[in-house]
Amino acid sequence: MAARSRDFVAKPNPRNGRCRLISGNWKMNLNHLEAISLVQKLHYSLRESDYHFAEISVHPPFTALRSIQLLLETDRIPISLGAQNCYFEESGAYTGEISSSMLGKLGVKYVIVGHSERRDLFGESNEIVAKKVNAVLGLEMTPIVCVGESMSQREGAETESVIQAQVDAVVTAMRPELCEQIVFAYEPKWAIGSGVPAEPADAVFGANAIRSAVAKHHGEPVANSVRVQYGGSVNSANAKEFLDQAEIDGLLVGGASLTAEAFTTIIQA
Ligand code: PGA
Repeated sequence: MAARSRDFVAKPNPRNGRCRLISGNWKMNLNHLEAISLVQKLHYSLRESDYHFAEISVHPPFTALRSIQLLLETDRIPISLGAQNCYFEESGAYTGEISSSMLGKLGVKYVIVGHSERRDLFGESNEIVAKKVNAVLGLEMTPIVCVGESMSQREGAETESVIQAQVDAVVTAMRPELCEQIVFAYEPKWAIGSGVPAEPADAVFGANAIRSAVAKHHGEPVANSVRVQYGGSVNSANAKEFLDQAEIDGLLVGGASLTAEAFTTIIQA
């Protein structure tokens, strides 16, 4: 990737030393032409101070990655490139799959792993998620590992145990220096795409549950290094209250990242 101006690097949050990350998960939306147009508009509306506040990543469908890579490099746009998924094997007879090394070659920096839509619609178990996380880390990219409970699990007071099992599966056998690079996204399933976001206190509860699961295996310093985003019906009206929490290091935004106006207002919240 072309060298970035130092001026556009996110500054650590003085409250905890971690750099915020605000990510747009476009899901199965936007062809490569629409994707180019959105990134151009987004960069046009963002200010230098926005890039200081948080690192910004966009996660287009696979078909737009090459176009967005070229756009970001050619125009020196300081937005990071992300993918929404990958397969854990390096290459071979896996029709329809994309490996982490293919993503690495495209300048991808962040890969969303274990999104609840992948877990629920495509049968991704905790074990598969763990393999994918290792594949991403092995290529020196950063996984954004999504965890979160369903409404019935929440009603059954299982939130903490669900998060713990999801985090355990990923971090148990991992070296601490790799673990601290992970970004987790606490995304309660009931909040995704529902228009009903979690309360900030719920998001903090989820972030604390993630960090205590990490601490159990790797200790407090590693737990305090991992970054935790909140995701689920984030919009311009509620973004600030999540970003105001010291435990929350950014946002994973779905629907509201599909227009430059909406995503910019969230970043500037
Ligand atoms: P949403 O999606 O912002 O549309 O609720 C978030 C996500 O699924 O990552």
